[in-house]
Formats: sequence, C-alpha cells, structure tokens
Amino acid sequence: MSQSNALRQPEAHAAPRYASVSPSQDFSIRPLGGAMGAEVVGIDLSRELDPADFARVHRAHLDHHLLVFRGQRITPQQHIDFSRRFGRLMIHVLHQFHLPGHPEILVVSNIVENGRPVGLGDAGKYWHSDISYKELPSLGSLLHAQELPAQGGDTLFADMHRAYDTLPAALRAAIGGRRAVHSYLAKYGQLQKEGAWRPDLSARQVEQVREVVHPVVRTHPESGRRALFVSEGFTTRIEGLPEDESRQILGELFAHSVRPEHIYRHVWQAHDLVFWDNRSLIHLAGGTPDHLRRKLYRTTIEGDAPF
Ligand code: SIN
Repeated sequence: MSQSNALRQPEAHAAPRYASVSPSQDFSIRPLGGAMGAEVVGIDLSRELDPADFARVHRAHLDHHLLVFRGQRITPQQHIDFSRRFGRLMIHVLHQFHLPGHPEILVVSNIVENGRPVGLGDAGKYWHSDISYKELPSLGSLLHAQELPAQGGDTLFADMHRAYDTLPAALRAAIGGRRAVHSYLAKYGQLQKEGAWRPDLSARQVEQVREVVHPVVRTHPESGRRALFVSEGFTTRIEGLPEDESRQILGELFAHSVRPEHIYRHVWQAHDLVFWDNRSLIHLAGGTPDHLRRKLYRTTIEGDAPF
C-alpha cells in the first residue's frame, strides 16, 4: 500500500441530511462474478451509514472498483451527502446541466423539454475516466438512475489495472516513465457537430479546462496497484514522442484497455446507484435509441494528483 489507507472524512461544512442515523445495517457484498464489481445487498443509503458500515463499503469499493446499490430511493441531497463522505465534490464545467439547486449534480440525459436539453445527452460517448483533464482528476463517480429506456442505455466499464497487468512487454517498455496530455476540449468541437448537447463555452469555462499532463501509468493512492491512465476521450498525446509514434502507442493502449475480458456491462434497473473508481476504471455510455428517454444524476468526487 502506498500513502494513506485511512478513510476520508466528510467535509466539515457538509452536514448530512439523512432520514435517520442508522445503527449498523445488515448488508452483504456479493461479487458480480465478471471482470469487476460487487453488489451491495440490503443497504439503505437514505440512512446515514455508521463508521463500521462506511468502512465496509469503502473497503469493498477498493477491492471491486465498482459497487452497485439496487433500488435506492434517495433524494439528490442524500446522493450528495453519501458521495461527500469519500471526498470533496467536483462541480462540472457545463453549469448548463447542473441539477437546479444542486450544482454538485450533473444531469446526464438525452431528454429535451420545451426545446431545451435537460442534461448532457452525449456524456460518456467515448471511453474515459471522469474529469481526467484536471490537475486533480476524480476519485470516483456515483450515477443514480432517474428514468431508464426500455432498450439500451447500458454503461460499460474497463479495468485499467488488468489492462496494465496484461500489457505486452514491448508496449509496457514504450510507456515506462512517460506522461500524457489530457484535454477536455480536444473532442469538444467534434461533439458539437455530432449532437445538440454542447453549448459554446464562455472564456471562463475554457479557462477552467486548460489541458494537463498526467503519468501514463498511475499508482492507485489507496491500494498501491498500478493502472493505465489514458483514454480515447481525453488523452491526446504522449509527451516527448514524435506525433506519429505517440498516436500509434495511444491507439494500441486504447485497444488493449477495452479488450472484452476487461469489461463489465451494467444493465440499469430502476433506482440503481452505481459507484465506480475513476482511478481504476474507464467507462463508456453504450448508447440509447433517440426516441427513448434516459436520465441519471451524477456526482463526482475529487481525487489526488496522479503519480
Ligand atoms: C458518464 O460518462 O458519466 C455517463 C455514463 C452513462 O451515461 O452511462
């Protein structure tokens, strides 16, 4: 283990607003049986978790990288309060898609009401780790289902520890000690052309998403495991390499990361809350037919500077 394995404390100002403070809850952690993930069965996140229960959930999150909590009838504030127990929440640059009254929640939705999109309809269209384009990328995200389509709308996750562990030796040697650029804006223009979800950014918004550089291979600050930390969504080039070599290596890394054996596909059920580790996984929105409605709320927890 590197650095601290201690539990993160809630922020001092973040007094949770739960329905009740609970004694220990009787829940179990059941591995999903595939590439990653576990279901937390029998827990009610509308009640504040006591320290022992919170520690179990935290441990399970580190062990399985992704937790599924089925049937959580929680309010946006309870979603925020539970998320905050793991760290500071990040406010997405696209303030147009914040849940009104709750800027900590990004609305992910393809729904258009009165000619206006209610959320970010193309969120996750490319494989990515949330907010890797900031100096302090995300620790993890919690996505809560509000309205689900009868067909499609799945989310796919790829295990970047496994991707690193199984890299061919030559590729591993090629990226040893390298750093890569992450850019929010690299695909923005393309996304603007492809759909109706990307408003023009103000100068202030552009200022908030200046490109950053992170190690190509990062060490998980809590488990000490190494993981690939590049994605087609945000990683644009490897520093110090000729452009064509950088493009070729990134292409190979992207393809290797999402091999079928590294992937879990989440098929959403009503009121699911899925909590994944952005330091260990990348993810992709599998797509929803245009005529079907889909809406989810996302909180994103800030993490550490990758090393
Ligand atoms: C995201 O990338 O956070 C959204 C994923 C999804 O909508 O499935």
